[in-house]
Amino acid sequence: MPLDRLVLHGLRNLQPVDFEPVSRVNLITGENGSGKTSLLEGIHILGMGRSFRTRNMRHVIAHEGEELLVHGRLAGEPPIPFGVRRRRSEGELEIRLAGERVGRLASLVETLPLQLINPDAFRLLEGSPAGRREFLDWGVFHVKHDFLEAWQRARRALKHRNALLRHGRMSDASLTAWEHELVHWSERIDAMRGAWVEAFLPVFEETLAGLLPLEGLRLRYTRGWDRRRSLAEVLRQGRDVDRQMGFTQQGPQRADLAIRLGKRPAIEVLSRGQQKLVVSAMKLAQGRLLEASTGRRCVYLIDDLPAELDASHRRLFCRWLENMRCQVFITSIEPDALADLWRADTPLAMFHVKRSAAGSGELLPRERQIS
Ligand SMILES: Nc1ncnc2c1ncn2[C@@H]1O[C@H](COP(=O)(O)OP(=O)(O)O)[C@@H](O)[C@H]1O
Ligand SMILES: [Mg+2]
Repeated sequence: MPLDRLVLHGLRNLQPVDFEPVSRVNLITGENGSGKTSLLEGIHILGMGRSFRTRNMRHVIAHEGEELLVHGRLAGEPPIPFGVRRRRSEGELEIRLAGERVGRLASLVETLPLQLINPDAFRLLEGSPAGRREFLDWGVFHVKHDFLEAWQRARRALKHRNALLRHGRMSDASLTAWEHELVHWSERIDAMRGAWVEAFLPVFEETLAGLLPLEGLRLRYTRGWDRRRSLAEVLRQGRDVDRQMGFTQQGPQRADLAIRLGKRPAIEVLSRGQQKLVVSAMKLAQGRLLEASTGRRCVYLIDDLPAELDASHRRLFCRWLENMRCQVFITSIEPDALADLWRADTPLAMFHVKRSAAGSGELLPRERQIS
């Protein structure tokens, strides 16, 4: 379900925004520093409870302001209002969903499945496994309702095991107990991740073929511990080394998606542009699989697409988004770089963020064509 209303208050330099109705494709242009990325950041906070630019939400609150408020409404019968508020004076995010106060961030994530494509996202292949695990777990989370619990329990067991490795005795019975717990939940996690990857691969391969034919590109899931041994065995036999290191060396916290071209890691052979297309295909495939398995569509946030993809790939990429009928927010510095990429019957709205002399940004509609 798409957003049909979006309200932003107290977000960085942006003047209050109340955007209604929100179109399927929303193109946002504006000069550097006008507030385009901030607008995407606001939607990201609405869907994820956090910014993609900073860990410190105080940085997102307008300098002179006391609080940040982001509110959205999902189209549907009935429409679902939801939102978050963050006061400068308080550490916590206040989350509301359908009129109720909720405590779990996961409720936001469930409500608004988001995919972000920005320069950091394009580093998915070269960066640490943490980013790829996050990508993987996003997919699993949205299709398996018990994934979050398994993940939280495994993390808790891992924390206790690590604490005992550092401070406890080797013979400690509680070490065995926590290992038992860790093994149980890790096996659940591994089974869910493995099943998700199996469903993901054909969708990814098809999407990639439509963007950039790359013979021999393979994506493989590695579970995070020795392939030939059970985790119980790995943990038992690894106690000495783990104790010296002060933490658990193997387990689902080390899972990864290995991406190779032929025999080599893809990152060693692909050009920067090719890497971006592989990441684009991964992100599109994530949304396609979500729809195929749950009937829900992602909202895509895409920051400065013209700076990232060349004209012909930009066109192919937008064609995928259009065929997926996903709601999209795309920013660009150049006013017209994105306007002619869409079919005439695609609901499209164009906005311009105007930067005032004092630095504030005002979101204004440009000529609009909604069919
Ligand atoms: N907390 C804040 N309060 C007010 N202005 C801010 C805050 N944080 C950043 N800014 C300003 O907001 C502007 C918008 O930045 P940004 O969204 O990155 O613009 P764009 O993506 O259009 O280049 C910048 O000029 C920046 O200096
Ligand atoms: Mg920007």
